[in-house]
Parts: sequence; structure tokens; C-alpha cells
Amino acid sequence: MILVTGGAGFIGANFVLDWLAQRDEPVVNLDKLTYAGNRENLASLEGDARHVLVQGDIGDLDLVGRLLAERQPRAVLNFAAESHVDRSIHGPADFIETNVVGTFRLLEAVRGYVMSLPEDRKAGFRFLHVSTDEVYGSLEPGAPAFTEAHGYEPNSPYSASKAASDHLVRAWHHTYGLPVLTTNCSNNYGPFHFPEKLIPLMIVNALAGKPLPVYGDGMQVRDWLYVKDHCSAIRRVLEAGRLGETYNVGGWNEKPNIEIVRTVCGLLDELRPRTDGKSYSEQIAYVKDRPGHDRRYAIDARKLERELGWRPAETFETGIRKTVQWYLENPEWVRRVQSGDYRSWMQRHYEGGVTA
Ligand code: NAD
Ligand code: DAU
Repeated sequence: MILVTGGAGFIGANFVLDWLAQRDEPVVNLDKLTYAGNRENLASLEGDARHVLVQGDIGDLDLVGRLLAERQPRAVLNFAAESHVDRSIHGPADFIETNVVGTFRLLEAVRGYVMSLPEDRKAGFRFLHVSTDEVYGSLEPGAPAFTEAHGYEPNSPYSASKAASDHLVRAWHHTYGLPVLTTNCSNNYGPFHFPEKLIPLMIVNALAGKPLPVYGDGMQVRDWLYVKDHCSAIRRVLEAGRLGETYNVGGWNEKPNIEIVRTVCGLLDELRPRTDGKSYSEQIAYVKDRPGHDRRYAIDARKLERELGWRPAETFETGIRKTVQWYLENPEWVRRVQSGDYRSWMQRHYEGGVTA
């Protein structure tokens, strides 16, 4: 079996669902169930003996040690993190606690477990750390995309905390010989994406008749990957990645934010037209920029393709259509995640309303 952390969040839940759709190897899912963790994402696995959800913190050494000893996983995949850049600006403490201290404690628990394993099982064990392209900092227009050799230049509390976690993972390999793999992925989108992030926020706000808040001039560039392609890359790296290596994962889909927002509006105009016949793009509202906003990310994923034969299956056009359709088909999921915490975050962050 495998131990997945953070498997009730956006990418983790997609990973667990895809994993169990393709094989019978059981998953123990350790998730703290913060505001971003949602049991409902895993509702289709209810009653499925191959999946166990344990509510707990990756920083709880006793709990993680016990889980490892009892369940004897052949791999640990660490998705658990505080993941939202804007929240890290408002309150960095949780990011340091989970992403840095939590990863450190998880590494220590895993190190103790691996040392207890017989040689043959030790050789097969893997710790896969799921990280982000944001650790590399911001690219100038026209500069080559991030390769794995790019220096770390994190700019936000979130990316600094993820960079720190990557360094810890690297050091636990180099110093203690822990069999680690790291993936650094670009922006994901798809089902179960919490509507504080750009694409799901634009969909739910558009449908609710609310403004679509675009930061600054909307010309910041991100490299978008359909979440299920990220999951297939992680499976491939787990299966065949070289120990101690990092692999960049990306969709070859660089786009400025305003183009993403206009694409979402165009799809909604087609699939769920406004009753007044106008375009959802009329709801676009330029707002104050994010402090320290990184201008451009772009991932060079050629190492993953060259060494492990991975390519994304979706284009942006196919992935974004599936995503918009998923949100249209799952209004109850949207309604339920928009809980008290969600509402207070929206109020605090987009304080005073957005202005066109
Ligand atoms: P998310 O915020 O949707 O989910 C994070 C999950 O981790 C939640 O279920 C949460 O309850 C859980 N969690 C948080 N703190 C925990 C703790 N201390 N112990 C146990 N569980 C805890 O995040 P996501 O978008 O699914 O991202 C997953 C991972 O992928 C993160 O490590 C993130 O840095 C990385 N990543 C995300 C993207 C992206 O575009 N979303 C891109 C590249 C990398
Ligand atoms: O690059 C990978 C990273 O992508 C992950 O590591 C993070 O966990 C993930 O949240 C994401 O970070 P971003 O900051 O790029 O994602 P977000 O969806 O918050 O914002 C995407 C872009 O859209 C960014 O340039 C900011 C902008 N934006 C975002 C929001 C929420 C807006 O213009 N308006 C908004 O309301």
C-alpha cells in the first residue's frame, strides 16, 4: 500500500481517485482536513476497503510513526501543504508550520520507518515530495522556461516555505540516504479545485453574477496543466524516477491571466448563457495587484519526457472545457465548500468589494 498525505485536497483527491480507478493497491490518506481538505472529494470511495482516510497532521510524529509501523507502506507521497499564495501573504505562520516544520517531522518519521525495514523493502521504498514551480521565482518575458537546474528564488511566503521543504527533502536524501523524489509542477486546474484559486473562482463568481477580480493588469503569465496530467506524472515518477532527482512537470500552456478569464467566460457564454444575453466577460473587474506578484512562470518539462516518456494528455482547450463542465454539473459541491470560512476569506481578501 501507499501513504498519501493531503489526499482530501484538490490534487491529492484527484490523485487518490485516479490511483484506485487504475489499480487495487490500497491507499491510506492522512489529511488534517483544513478548510482546503474536503471528505466530499472522496465520497465516491465510501465503503471501498482500499481507501482509509485518517484525519491528522503530517507534523504529528507519534501519529505518523504509528501509521507507518502499522500499515507498512511501500511509498509515502506528500501532497499536504498550505497552498494559497494570497493566504500566505495575509498569514504566513500556518505555511511555515505545515510546509516547513510539518515536512521536517514527516521526513523524520519516514526516516525512522525506513531504517527499520529489511534491506529488500528498504531498496524499494520511495518518498515522493510534491512541490511547485514557484520555488524558482519569476521569469522575464522571453526568458527560457524553468529547468531543474534553475536556481531557487522564491518570492512569496508560500513559495519560500515550499522551497524550504524541497531543501529538507534533498538534504534527507544526501545526508541520510532517504530514497526521495521531488516533482515541481506548474499551475493545475480541474475538478475539486477550491474556489479561492483563479479558475474556479472565476467560474463560481461568474455564475453567481459577481465581479471577476483580475489582479493588476491581468498580464501575469502562468503555465496551466490539467490536474489529471499532474497525477499521471507523479505516478510515472514514483514508478521510474531516479532517486534524489527532481522532475519539472508542466503543460506547455503559458497564458496571461486575462486570457484565461476570457476563455472561461467564453465557455460559460456557450454552455450556460446569461439570461440577459450579455457575455460573462462584462463582469471582469481589474483590482489591486497581489503584493510581490510573480510576473511569469513557465516549466520546461523535457527531462520528464526524455527520461520517463511522460507527456500531458490534455491540451488547455480540452482540459478547460472539462473543468467548466464539471463545475456546471456539481453546484452542490460548490455550494457546500462556500462555508463560513470561505465567506470570511472572500470578505477579508477582496475587502470593500472589487472595482471595475
Ligand atoms: P490544497 O490546498 O487543495 O490541499 C492541501 C491538502 O493538504 C488539504 O486537503 C489539507 O487539508 C491538507 N493539509 C494541510 N495541512 C496539513 C497538515 N499539516 N497535515 C496533513 N494534511 C494537511 O492544495 P493542492 O492544490 O491540492 O496542492 C497539493 C500539493 O501540490 C501542495 O504541496 C502544493 O504545494 C502542490 N502544488 C500545487 C499546485 C496547484 O496548482 N494547485 C501546483 C504545483 C504544486
Ligand atoms: O505555480 C504553481 C502554483 O499555482 C501552486 O504552487 C499554488 O499552490 C497554486 O495556488 C498556484 O499559485 P498561483 O498564485 O499561481 O495561483 P492562483 O490561482 O492563486 O492565481 C493564479 C494567477 O491569477 C496569479 O497570477 C494571480 C491571479 N489571480 C488570482 C486570484 C485568486 C487574479 O488575478 N485574481 C484572483 O482573484
